[in-house]
Amino acid sequence: MTTIKDIAREAGVSVAMVSKVLNHPDCGRTETREKVLAVVKRLNYQPNHAAKSMINKRTGMIALIISDVRNPFFTEVARGLEDAANKNNYRVMLCNTDNDPLKQQSYLQALQGRIVDGFIISVASEDSRQLKKINRAELPFVLIDRECQNFRTDAVIVDNRDGAVKAVRHLLNNGRRRVGFIAGKQNTQTGRERMQGYCDALAEQGIAVEQQLIKEGHFTISGGYQAAKALLELPECPDALFIANNAMTMGALRALTEARVRIPKKIALVSFDDVEWAEFFTPPLTVIRQPTYTMGSLAGEILFQRLTEAKQSEIKEIVLRPELIVRKSCGSSLNG
Ligand code: RIB
Repeated sequence: MTTIKDIAREAGVSVAMVSKVLNHPDCGRTETREKVLAVVKRLNYQPNHAAKSMINKRTGMIALIISDVRNPFFTEVARGLEDAANKNNYRVMLCNTDNDPLKQQSYLQALQGRIVDGFIISVASEDSRQLKKINRAELPFVLIDRECQNFRTDAVIVDNRDGAVKAVRHLLNNGRRRVGFIAGKQNTQTGRERMQGYCDALAEQGIAVEQQLIKEGHFTISGGYQAAKALLELPECPDALFIANNAMTMGALRALTEARVRIPKKIALVSFDDVEWAEFFTPPLTVIRQPTYTMGSLAGEILFQRLTEAKQSEIKEIVLRPELIVRKSCGSSLNG
């Protein structure tokens, strides 16, 4: 098997230079780089990552732990993270917990076996006990999208309450009075804060919260479908719907379509999360857009800084702002 020493000898450079060219392709003089890479190709050299990680105790790999692999929100987060990882010469491993704390626990145990240098996680619940057991100096991690209660650590999230207030306030400002809410899991920060924003927007205009207008959708397509059906079966169904994420919106739209409900004429609709199909739906959906790509890339930059800093710097908690994107499903003819 060709070794890094064979490459150095054939190219007439030091082993260190070969390592530099392989690990930092953008550095060094062009002719040296091209000479080394030509020998690598001719001798079909394959780096031995296992040997390398034993020597420098680095795997060159990080993990992204997400709560729903089918949700396009996390695809965009992964895109932002992977672009940051490639810039820092890291590769990314994907883990999916299905919002299940037990599955999350099994991944966290596996990742402490020195198979990654650090990880990014959207937690399955606000319970921080699993994460508190991890030595962040040895295995640094950054939370995205959701934090844990009573546990300050590096995190990149959005202001979920603010996004929900913007959505419901917009519906109320456009004349709707009975806004139904399809809520996400209340044991997550995103679920809990979007509920808070819904209630705060109603309170702003002196409208009492009607518990029968709030249905739990568990952040899933089927949950959104069942919740929308339940709202449509009320003696007096709502004149608007605020839905706490894209997956539940897909389910709710199926129920509304089956019931031949006219959007926005009969029920106006605003969804948390922008997705590619939102503007192509009929009518195009008014949404709360999260800076999803930025969330992933910022979380990656924080993690890579943790992996290279000699001394632990202060905790970084970044709260991004979501944006109201007005289309036609909310019934507003105005932009904004
Ligand atoms: O659809 C993805 C969004 O909904 C994320 O914020 C996730 O946490 C869920 O709340």
